Amino acid sequence: MRKNIVAGNWKMNKTFSEGSELVKEIINLLNNNDKIKLKDQLHIIIAPPFILLQKSAELVKDNKQVSIAAQNCYTEEKGAYTGEISIAMIKSTGADYVIIGHSERRAYFKETNDMLAKKVDVALKNQLLPIFCCGESLEIRQAKNHFEWIKKQIHESLFHLNENDFKKLIIAYEPIWAIGTGITATSQQAQEIHAYIRSLIKEKYGDDIAENTTILYGGSCNPGNAKELFANPDVDGGLIGGASLKANDFIQIINTYL
Ligand code: PGA
Repeated sequence: MRKNIVAGNWKMNKTFSEGSELVKEIINLLNNNDKIKLKDQLHIIIAPPFILLQKSAELVKDNKQVSIAAQNCYTEEKGAYTGEISIAMIKSTGADYVIIGHSERRAYFKETNDMLAKKVDVALKNQLLPIFCCGESLEIRQAKNHFEWIKKQIHESLFHLNENDFKKLIIAYEPIWAIGTGITATSQQAQEIHAYIRSLIKEKYGDDIAENTTILYGGSCNPGNAKELFANPDVDGGLIGGASLKANDFIQIINTYL
């Protein structure tokens, strides 16, 4: 059975002390919630800025349901790339996951499908698990090219992987028009794309892998709409931005699974 995952992407928010406090708050709320602990299939991921990875990994280490993710990594393993962070550096902090291809990285930092394929490879080679993001802009949706667009993103960045590596991925669908805008995809729009992504995986890797791939929804998911979104058969949780910055909101979204 595939996992349900609620992942919080803090983006460029929280200083070291603010972020440490937020992780402590989240962990306290989780540790005091026996119902969440009983949900074996439920997993929680926190993706703070790089400076908080090590501290966050230390704070969550006794809770097996919680893992830490980096928000990005570089394509190369080491060398003269001033300001970049390598996968080995991320791994050394105790993080287990890395978000690759977030729409903000694609838009503001011009990350291409080819570059993201390299990031996926370098992450897997170093035993860090990718949370791979894909999704369309409003213009692409309005032109009705969203299915083709997502297919191309997935084909060019992921479909070179062998089965064994593909199985390690989490995929996140992010309708760019719903990110940070307060607009959410309707439950039907989310389900339609998630089912489509799963059908692409099925075509390439077969039923078993498709059924076991966790596909998260990202885009203004909050305590008010999480239940409806997560109730869809192909939506396996969320990649939460703004609402993951408040411990209570984040926990309420997690509680959707109880
Ligand atoms: P948001 O971000 O929840 O703030 O819209 C979601 C995302 O970036 O995936």
